[in-house]
Amino acid sequence: MNNNMDRLVIRGKKRLSGNVLISGAKNAAVAVIPAAIMADDVCVIDNLPYIEDVKCLYTTINKMGAECVYSDKHTLKIDSSSNVSTTVTFDEVRKMRASYYLLGALLARFKRAEVTMPGGCNFGTRPIDLHLKGFRALGAEVDVQGEVVCVRADKLKGASIYMDTVSVGATINIMLAATMAEGVTTIENAAKEPHIVDVANFLNMMGAKIKGAGTDVIKIVGVDRLHGAEYTIIPDQIEAGTYMIAAAITGGRVKVCNIIPKHMDSLSAKLLEIGIGIEEGDDFITVDATESDFKATSIRTMAYPGFPTDLQPQIAALLSVCGGTSMITENVWEKRYQYIDELKRLGAKITVEGRVAIIEGVKELTGASVEATDLRAGAAMIIAALNARGETVIGEVKYIDRGYEEVESKFSALGADIRRVSV
Ligand code: UD1
Repeated sequence: MNNNMDRLVIRGKKRLSGNVLISGAKNAAVAVIPAAIMADDVCVIDNLPYIEDVKCLYTTINKMGAECVYSDKHTLKIDSSSNVSTTVTFDEVRKMRASYYLLGALLARFKRAEVTMPGGCNFGTRPIDLHLKGFRALGAEVDVQGEVVCVRADKLKGASIYMDTVSVGATINIMLAATMAEGVTTIENAAKEPHIVDVANFLNMMGAKIKGAGTDVIKIVGVDRLHGAEYTIIPDQIEAGTYMIAAAITGGRVKVCNIIPKHMDSLSAKLLEIGIGIEEGDDFITVDATESDFKATSIRTMAYPGFPTDLQPQIAALLSVCGGTSMITENVWEKRYQYIDELKRLGAKITVEGRVAIIEGVKELTGASVEATDLRAGAAMIIAALNARGETVIGEVKYIDRGYEEVESKFSALGADIRRVSV
């Protein structure tokens, strides 16, 4: 069992080789599960990643009164035909940022919701003003009392909504609510991430009428009710990217399987620029760095199809050992460089000026004791540790467990020297 105090101990300098199977997408799963409670019927969701965020949602949905059971490790059966509580103020929802999707889903079906948002400063760094603006445009009253957001409406009415900032969460949340609003809703300047398409596909299988997901204009014709459906979640673009970068930094050759290669285009392009071999198949990418001489490059994070901010820490680890000076510009999150100090402990040479990180490539990293400051920062620590000479101990593994299924088994199977130590 995973423990809050677990650590990962990695001895670097092993070339990764072999195949790795990518799990279902975390960011799709955390939206599709709340969407399932919009049906007054049974939904079966497959290819779910077996990670802490999904387990937390499983507990939440059960506590809300719907019946949610694991038919196997990757499949949830959700029956929301009985009474579902619209007040979701227990502890689990605080642990997971994506609990905001419960607002849109409950508002759609029951026209009311009361949900605790992830605590404290997260409102500052991760605002939900665009979500709430969208709900208001659909005719809902919104009341924020401390950490609890209350939304209610006599009825929801379709509207034309322009998103001031491209937001994944707001696009999905408004799409959820609008699915069961009267008339037509248009979301303009919508986000285009693969998991937005995935959520729309699931809703359409339940009887929704959504067109344009994956483009910047989404059109939704409201329906009265949604029925149950069976659905398979798409593969995780960020987990795939993490293993691609990990293979590269070790000078290894790894086939990353069960993915949609198109979703990886922005990363594949950058790996090619760095000098790493990429071979694409229908549902796999083979990364070959056995002959590579890593060259520095520049990265600018952007909404899809741009380079994902959720791969920024991992690529920073790789750029730390690329010859020359690389530059990263983080355009999505203001404070996404907290992990840089940890990377520096491993010998990386990085200076941060506002949104820009300048990286002077070093020949190799050196093992040290570091912490996973958040989920993707934790992934970056693993990648850096795989390159480092000597032993690296990574603390706060609980963040990594939020989003990576069986991380040490998958890396071990590729030949990494990695083990979990429970403290
Ligand atoms: C999602 C992902 C997260 C990823 C992010 C950007 C999930 C569960 N999480 O987060 O891993 O890093 O997309 O790809 O899918 N913003 C506002 N007001 C809002 C909402 C967002 O100003 O109401 C701003 C944010 O401060 C940020 C930008 O919009 O600068 C993008 O955020 P958004 O796309 O909403 O991120 P999340 O959906 O929270």
